[in-house]
Amino acid sequence: MKDEVRRLLIDEAIKARKMAYAPYSKFLVGAALVVPSGRVYTGCNIENASYGLTICAERTAIFKAVSEGQRHIDAIAIVGAPLFEDDSSDEGGSKGENDYAFPCGACRQVLAEFLPESGDIDVIVAKSQDDYRVFKLSELLPHTFSI
Ligand code: THU
Repeated sequence: MKDEVRRLLIDEAIKARKMAYAPYSKFLVGAALVVPSGRVYTGCNIENASYGLTICAERTAIFKAVSEGQRHIDAIAIVGAPLFEDDSSDEGGSKGENDYAFPCGACRQVLAEFLPESGDIDVIVAKSQDDYRVFKLSELLPHTFSI
């Protein structure tokens, strides 16, 4: 993927994370995805007092895109970390070397529903513009369920 797109998605995911509603876990997640036209959709996690009703940031972004007519996702960036006192900084927060916020299994399967023509997408897990990893969805979710 182009550097420019990766930078944009990380930026937008960091911004979306600031909208997270996570009073129970205090773990804030932001996601930003790009569709083939170049349009970007963002999402944050939204928790509920009835814990199981929580929705992840990734699915918020995916459902926003699909509900507006999109059917293919080219790439997604995810930024997640606990709420810190200094959370007003421009970074998503960082704790250690290997603790990127990976998409949960449910979100991986939902992403697999909306693959682009290439048949695979880039999944960026990031802590900041300078600290990120890029994976293929096929690496994170081999043997996708399909009917
Ligand atoms: N969460 C996400 O937003 N995305 C994931 O892929 C995993 C988990 C959220 C759900 C919950 O609000 C918080 O992180 C702690 O589990």
